[in-house]
Parts: sequence; C-alpha cells; structure tokens
Amino acid sequence: MEKKICLITGANAGIGKAAAIQLAQAGHHVILGCRNSQRGQQALESVRAASGSSGVSLLVLDMASQASIINAAQQVQRDHSGLDVLIHNAAAFDISQKTKQVTPEGIETVWATNHVGPVLLTDALLPALKRSPQGRIIMIASKGLMMHPRLKIDLDDPEFANRKFSVPPAYYQSKLAQVMYTYWLAKELETTAITVNAIRVTNVKVDVSRYPDLGWLAKAAYSLKSRFSISPEAMAETYTYLATDPALAMVTGAYFDENRKQVSAGKYAASARAQTRLMEVTQTYLRHA
Ligand SMILES: NC(=O)c1ccc[n+]([C@@H]2O[C@H](COP(=O)([O-])OP(=O)(O)OC[C@H]3O[C@@H](n4cnc5c(N)ncnc54)[C@H](OP(=O)(O)O)[C@@H]3O)[C@@H](O)[C@H]2O)c1
Repeated sequence: MEKKICLITGANAGIGKAAAIQLAQAGHHVILGCRNSQRGQQALESVRAASGSSGVSLLVLDMASQASIINAAQQVQRDHSGLDVLIHNAAAFDISQKTKQVTPEGIETVWATNHVGPVLLTDALLPALKRSPQGRIIMIASKGLMMHPRLKIDLDDPEFANRKFSVPPAYYQSKLAQVMYTYWLAKELETTAITVNAIRVTNVKVDVSRYPDLGWLAKAAYSLKSRFSISPEAMAETYTYLATDPALAMVTGAYFDENRKQVSAGKYAASARAQTRLMEVTQTYLRHA
C-alpha cells in the first residue's frame, strides 16, 4: 500500500478525529489540523494511542483566521514533500451562538470558517497537492441541506449585514457553498491528477459537552437526534473511503452519502453560472500572503 500524507482540519473531535484514527491505523501519515494547541496535543496523544501509529503530527490551524491558514500551509510545505489528501472537516456550527461574530480579518465567522477558509487553504496547498501522484481534496457538507431544497446563497449579503443573523441559515449557506465549490474546483483541476469530491454527512452523534452554553431545549433536541444518528466512527469510514480507495482515483466532482452512493445536490448547486458567481464573490474575501 502506498503511504499517503493526509491533512484533516478539525481533527481533535468527532468525525475528524475518528477519520484520523482510521487513516493512521491504515498506515498513512496524518496531520491533525487543530485550532487549539492544548486540545490538539490531547488529540495527538489519543490518535497515536488508538491507532498504534507514530505517524501522526499536529498542525495548529484555525480555519477562522486567514493568517493562521497561510502559516499552517507554509508549515505543511516545509515539513512534507507533498500532500496527498486534504479533508476540509472543521466547521462552525454552535447553535448556542446568538449573535453574529467576526474573525480577526473582520469576516462573519461561519462564512469564514466553513467556506472562505477551505478555499484559501486549498489555494495555499495546491502546489503540495500537485506534487502528489494523485491528490485528493474532500469537502464536507450536510444532509440537512435536503431540508432546504430551494436554498440559494445570498451572494449580495453572505455575511448577514442586512438580514437577521442566526447560525442555522449561515451554516447551511456555507455548506451549500462547499458543494458548489467542489463542482467548480473539480472542473478547474480536471487536467491535473487531483480529484475533488464532497461528502453529505448524515446525522452523527455530537458530544454536547463540547457546547457548554447550549440551553436545555437544544440539549433535549440533540439527545432526541442522537437516537437517529450514526457514530462518528461509522461516518468516518466514508472519509477514509474517499481519501484512499484506489477505485476513486479518477472520480472527481462527485457528492457521496454515508453509504458511499453518489447523490445530487440539486439544480442550483449544479449550475455553472451560480458556481462562477459564488467563486467571484469568494475571491473578494481571500487574502494571499
Ligand atoms: N454531526 C453531525 O450530525 C453533522 C451533520 C452534518 C454535517 N456535519 C459536518 O461534519 C463535520 C464534522 O462534524 P462533527 O460532528 O465531527 O463536529 P464536532 O464534533 O463538533 O467537531 C468539529 C471539529 O471542528 C473543529 N473546528 C471548529 N471550528 C474550527 C476552526 N475555526 N478551526 C479549526 N478547527 C475548528 C472543532 O475544534 P474545537 O474542539 O477547537 O472546537 C472540532 O475539532 C463538520 O463539517 C460538520 O459540519 C456534521
């Protein structure tokens, strides 16, 4: 088996951590991209112990900070000869957050973390991915988008400057943007060996202790939801499949569910015109070092 170098963002908890363990167990080198160095260090020890592999390293990476993203990408390029797999797993989705917050660069946090950050990190790591015999970029979206079949991204106001902010609409527009970015980037990279695919994550058990400010109603909703949820480990198997299965070496621009089946994201997401407009607006947010 060819040993791959894999970077997973948000790898200190949930599905990202479970995927890190699976990839390390399979003999790949895993870079844990974590925003908090203490939680990252704990994850590093726990992923090494659970996988029995020392081929795991920590990269301090805050997807809400463009400065952090640029620094982290530079470190990856210094420490490794290339990058084979980039999994954009980290996401902001804290429903106890009641008011809009902005990042160090002044961008609304959900839009910045879940969409702008992954685009910037991909851009910064493209040279490393191009050095891989077959690079793979994996975006993470949500099955919850199916509850919003008519959703479009408000590209005149993606940061909720002129509409009432709340986390769920901000989150779903950012996840829709990730699917559209997948389709757009797959076309951009079609003459390279890099594939770009997305995963439609289903209901997965969330560790609510990670969200101490959740009210009792939200906790009750999560507890009910957990009865219909799969484990992070089960969902991570789809991450591992997309990251490593040789059968997917030529598959690009696809959207997979938790059963590894290709699914549609609807007409709007598939529209090349809408994707181009999204990426024109996204470009205006990007800082290049
Ligand atoms: N769980 C579900 O039911 C579900 C459903 C649909 C889609 N998804 C998607 O699946 C992915 C993983 O979800 P999960 O359930 O495993 O979530 P989780 O357990 O809450 O873990 C999220 C991870 O992202 C990290 N993160 C958040 N903001 C970050 C930032 N600015 N920079 C770097 N890391 C950051 C968190 O780090 P900290 O510990 O520092 O907060 C944590 O490691 C996400 O993209 C999510 O949107 C999940």
